[in-house]
Amino acid sequence: MHENFSLKPYNTFGVDAEARYFTEANDVEQLKSAVNFAKSESLNLLFLGGGSNLLFTQHFDGLAVKINFKGISEEVLNENSVLVTAKAGENWHEFVMYCLEKNYGGLENLSLIPGNVGTSPMQNIGAYGTEIKDVFASCTVLNLETLEVETFNLEKCRFGYRDSIFKQEGKGKYVILEVKFKLTRKDHSIKTEYGAIQAELDKSGIQNPTIQDVSKAVINIRQSKLPDPKITGNAGSFFKNPTIPLAQFEDLKLKFENIQGYPNGNQVKVPAGWLIEQCGWKGKRIGNAASHQLQSLVIINATGKATGKEIFDFSAEIINSVKEKFGIELEREVNII
Ligand code: EPU
Repeated sequence: MHENFSLKPYNTFGVDAEARYFTEANDVEQLKSAVNFAKSESLNLLFLGGGSNLLFTQHFDGLAVKINFKGISEEVLNENSVLVTAKAGENWHEFVMYCLEKNYGGLENLSLIPGNVGTSPMQNIGAYGTEIKDVFASCTVLNLETLEVETFNLEKCRFGYRDSIFKQEGKGKYVILEVKFKLTRKDHSIKTEYGAIQAELDKSGIQNPTIQDVSKAVINIRQSKLPDPKITGNAGSFFKNPTIPLAQFEDLKLKFENIQGYPNGNQVKVPAGWLIEQCGWKGKRIGNAASHQLQSLVIINATGKATGKEIFDFSAEIINSVKEKFGIELEREVNII
């Protein structure tokens, strides 16, 4: 157990916040003893995965627990499918690469997403036409009240766009221990409908892409426009893409004819990056925080010295100006501590 411990290496924004107590849990028993310690000392708990979706706006006056469970195992279900289980502390991208080496399909569009396996169900991570709900089989969790291990199947997780039970009524109640994915062993379903992937494959002259080709295309796209958190602190998309009623979208279209939208029932999903760019934020910097010059949905720690408060205030300014110009209220995707 460490006291007054810097969490700078544990959040991809690289914000220098301290935890009053910090420990690592390498297995369920260590996790349980950390939880019991917090209970006995009446401390708040914070569980850390890859730290890629977190913004510390203040010190954390409680016990931060880094989830470090490691291990991948697999069970062949039949000729075409395999159930792969990864422990929560496995790095997401390394796990995706492991599956691709074995030629297991389903995760290739999710290549290079920062973070760990254990936090992937929290917000149903998604990119380039795939979300983890598409390949998710189940996960086991530790119930923090009873200290019993429970299993959540797909239905129980109630996945939505960047959403799950773990962000709603289950918030703060469970720690994800491991996740099982149902992947294909052959006859992979290749998803290239997300525009940029097809263009990237065309550039390389690939006509019948394999899952490995799709992964490479996704990696190229991400590297070309998203900042690498190892170099520039960031937490990926800072906001969710908002969904607005069709009638509101049609009104906006009269005023802003270039506005883009993806119909979703009688709602329309509007790219937040576009709204933010239209308000003049793309590449703009205030103090140590900035909007990324190639993707304005991503806020960066431009100098490496930004405080969480500075980044938070910067995001509040973006929310205000988008609200003023378009009447749309952006919602933060990143967890604010
Ligand atoms: N756009 C702009 N200006 C910008 C950014 C985007 O006009 O500064 C426009 C683009 O031209 C495009 C549209 O917005 O027409 C969508 O942009 P993009 O394809 O880059 O995707 P996104 O909607 O901005 C989402 C996810 C990303 C994911 C990509 C690809 C959310 C909140 N973000 O971004 O996820 O990688 O799609 O699937 O849904 C993340 O969550 O951290 C993340 C990076």
